[in-house]
Formats: sequence, C-alpha cells, structure tokens
Amino acid sequence: MPLVVYEGRSHEVGEGQSVLDALLGGGEPIPHACRAGACGACILRATSGSIPPEAQAGLRDAWKARGCFHACRCHPTADLTVEPLGEGMRAHATVEARVPLSATVSRVLLRLDAPFEATPGQYLTLQRNGVARSFSIAARHGDRTLELHVQRVPGGAMSPYLCDEAKPGDALSVQGPLGFCVYTAGQPDQPLLLAGTGTGLAPLWGILHDALAAGHRAPIYLFHGAVRPEGLYLVDELRALAEEHPQVQYRPSVLLDSREGIEEGSLEQVVIRHLPKTTGMRVFLCGAPELVALVKKKVFLAGASMRDISSDAFVPAKTP
Ligand code: FES
Repeated sequence: MPLVVYEGRSHEVGEGQSVLDALLGGGEPIPHACRAGACGACILRATSGSIPPEAQAGLRDAWKARGCFHACRCHPTADLTVEPLGEGMRAHATVEARVPLSATVSRVLLRLDAPFEATPGQYLTLQRNGVARSFSIAARHGDRTLELHVQRVPGGAMSPYLCDEAKPGDALSVQGPLGFCVYTAGQPDQPLLLAGTGTGLAPLWGILHDALAAGHRAPIYLFHGAVRPEGLYLVDELRALAEEHPQVQYRPSVLLDSREGIEEGSLEQVVIRHLPKTTGMRVFLCGAPELVALVKKKVFLAGASMRDISSDAFVPAKTP
C-alpha cells in the first residue's frame, strides 16, 4: 500500500481510499468540505511523488506546476509526501463588515493582509476553527477587500457564523482563488447569458459589473431564480442597474408565489422562454448543481457552444 507523508508523519493509503481519507483516518486535521473535487477546501501540495492527473483537474496551470492537488480526489499508486499550501496560495484576512441583504443572505467584506490576486466570479476557501467552506467572490474593493454573499445554511458549520455573528476584526484564513467563471474582456459584442440560483448570484454579480466596467456593448441577460420571492436578493439594485444600462436585462424568477415583476417557472424554463436561441452567446451558470446541469443542457441544445459555457456548481459540504 502506498504511504502518504504529511509533516513527517506516515499514513497508509488503503484500497479505494483517497489521500484525504487516509490523512483524516490518521488524525491529521485536513480541512475539507465537498469531498468531490469541487470546493478546493482540501487542496494540498506534493513535494515528492507522482500525482494522479484527476487529482489536479480544474486547477490553474501555475498551481499544477507547484504540485497542488485535491486530496479528496487523489488515489495514489506510489508514496507521496505532501504539505499544506504555502505563501502565495494562502492569506490572512479579517472581517471588515457584514450587511444583511435578505433574511437569509449577508454581504461579507473581508480585508486581506496583503494584496490578493482574485477576480470576481472565482471562489476561495475560508478556514476558521478547523472548518473550511468555499464562497464565490462577488466583488473586489481595492486590492485587499473582497465581497462575498453568504447564504445561511441552518446547522451549517460556517455560514451561520458569517451571516449572524462575524464582527469587524474577526480573523480567518483564506485559500485560493480557484475557478474560471470570470468575465474576460475582448469580445464586447458577444451577448452574455448569466443564470443562477441562490447565492449563485454572487459570481454573476461580479461578472456583470466587470463586463459593464469593461464597456461590454452586447446584451447581458441576467436570470436569478429562487423557490420563493424571499429567496431573491439585490432585486432593487439590479433593477436600477438595468435602467441605467440598457444592454442589461434582469429577470428574477421563482417556483412559487410569484408577484409583479417576478416571473414564475423553473430557471431553465424562464431562460429558454426568453432566449429560445442561444447560438453565439457566452454563458455563465452558477448555483445548485442540478439546476446548473439542467440549464447547461438546455442552453447547449438551444445553440450555445460548450466552449462558451462556464459553470460553477455549488456542491454542498459532506462531512462525516
Ligand atoms: S475539493 Fe476536496 S473537499 Fe472539496
């Protein structure tokens, strides 16, 4: 059986086990959340040994070159020596402000202790008291302050703290950023389709503002879905933005209890109702994994090219 060596201590990686399982089983406090290679909470760095390619899927080339990998997706066939991420991939941050945006969502501003390269639409992992959870970046304010939108998950390990208790000066550790759901300038005449549920709005908010700041001229369609109207947030701000920028079309929708100005229907139905043809569009999809998969299929069948579709599915934490 291969061995994984972490900070000088060796642990056997059993049949079918991941590096994460082996380290946790050996009592190492490795942060983790989704256990599906999606959130980035468990990323470690190998200093010797060979990393299976699937353990590096979705990471930036620079991180791959430094030996970073998802411990939850790593099933090694030979010995590995690993360590936590180092400088340049981790930072310290303090809470700058916390503002409720709805009954269940708060805007959290984090102040990094040093300039931090991150683009709205990417996500990062916050760690506090041994718990790690990932959140999308909704905005940057200067080179050190990042804005997150946090949805309170009842009984959650971090979101209730961030939504209800976090106070200015509280310290957290930040790891990342990860993800490719970002606006890239250079094609200002390509229509954009942004669709998401819940705090899937956070990366879309970032992409929308980056597009407007870059002078994007083509239509930008933003669809935000929720179960009920209370699940939507920033509705007035987005309506005002659409009034100010005629190329922006904002369409909030709900499954139940629709009211004036809010459509009824599932997200994929509402998107296709308004955009039966998506050929040539750049598409960004964020939020609940099932809905992201469903909308992706619909917009692809409606004409969008797979290479023009970026998605960020919020895979929930799985902790034993
Ligand atoms: S990526 Fe491994 S726990 Fe989420």
